[in-house]
Amino acid sequence: MKINWGIIGDARIARNFVIPGMQAGKYSKIVAIASRNILKAEKTADNMGIEKAYGSYEDLLADKSIDAVYIPLPNHLHVEWSIKAMEAGKHVLCEKPFALSIDDVEKAIKVRDRTGKKISEAFMVRSNLQWLKAKELIKKDEFGKLRAVQGFFSYNNTDPDNIRNSAEMGGGGIWDIGCYPVNTSRFIFDEEPLRVVSSIEYDPVFKVDRLASVLMEYPGGQAQFISSTQITPFQRMLFVGTKEHLEVEIPFNAPDKVSARIFISDNFTRAEERELIELPVCNQYTLQGDAFSKAIIENTEVPVTLEDTLKNSAVLLAIFRSAQTGRWENVSI
Ligand SMILES: NC(=O)c1ccc[n+]([C@@H]2O[C@H](COP(=O)([O-])OP(=O)(O)OC[C@H]3O[C@@H](n4cnc5c(N)ncnc54)[C@H](OP(=O)(O)O)[C@@H]3O)[C@@H](O)[C@H]2O)c1
Repeated sequence: MKINWGIIGDARIARNFVIPGMQAGKYSKIVAIASRNILKAEKTADNMGIEKAYGSYEDLLADKSIDAVYIPLPNHLHVEWSIKAMEAGKHVLCEKPFALSIDDVEKAIKVRDRTGKKISEAFMVRSNLQWLKAKELIKKDEFGKLRAVQGFFSYNNTDPDNIRNSAEMGGGGIWDIGCYPVNTSRFIFDEEPLRVVSSIEYDPVFKVDRLASVLMEYPGGQAQFISSTQITPFQRMLFVGTKEHLEVEIPFNAPDKVSARIFISDNFTRAEERELIELPVCNQYTLQGDAFSKAIIENTEVPVTLEDTLKNSAVLLAIFRSAQTGRWENVSI
């Protein structure tokens, strides 16, 4: 059995990664795409073998043959369209960051509970084999107790027309990519940070954060990361325990044509002393789509619950607060 999916918005992430990823899956069929411009929707539908194209998001939501929608809209529109989709009877997979405020997540939780629809924030890392493996290895006795995490995620994008450079749309590095070190450190620690402190540099023209350093205090240890939208692309996540360290080489834009790699060592002083773990080749968007479709088919929990989204959002909002106050900020919902 396959779930019939509709795509809301002819977004780059949808065309380049999520649609082809889901089309390669076992449980998902992309049957329609909607754009505010019907010509764009028709072009993508033609290019990608999608049956139906709609010239408005409302028209797609009115299509009774569609079970679930994927929402890759600019960040400020995520909650509005997720709620409209659930009210129209659709399950929802919505891009990160799901919301820009706690109130908005809570609003969506109420609609989810009333409509009984399934909804998940599209943190594809949570379905990726390399992250499941990293967690398994870090939980082993050999790793000792996880105490320190260091993360990095950057790219260089100064396009004034890109949604990431629009403050009104919820642009900036923390919402776009800082959300990943927060999400994955929470996932691996299996705990919530208690408080955070940050330093944020804003772009003087775009008014979005372009360079940020963050320190998060967890009950079990500390995590820090840098995110930036205006330096060379780089990403890495490093986890250090009392007995071993583990590094996820390409933690977020994980490769789908070659094996993802994890390095592990109990005494890393030279490169050859690290054990290399190569994961089976996989596509994280295929895994994410199938995990969500399966949750619908089997009526089980979605990959990332809105309760988890609430906790991730609370950390991100505390990071912004700390940069304003210049002090530690408690993470609170
Ligand atoms: N999980 C991941 O790996 C990943 C990677 C990249 C991005 N993302 C997320 O995916 C979302 C989309 O990112 P993207 O880079 O694909 O963006 P994008 O190419 O700019 O696509 C956004 C789409 O939203 C629609 N839209 C509706 N109202 C809009 C408005 N007022 N201004 C601009 N676009 C509007 C447009 O579709 P129509 O014109 O067709 O209506 C547009 O194509 C973001 O939330 C981002 O955080 C996730």
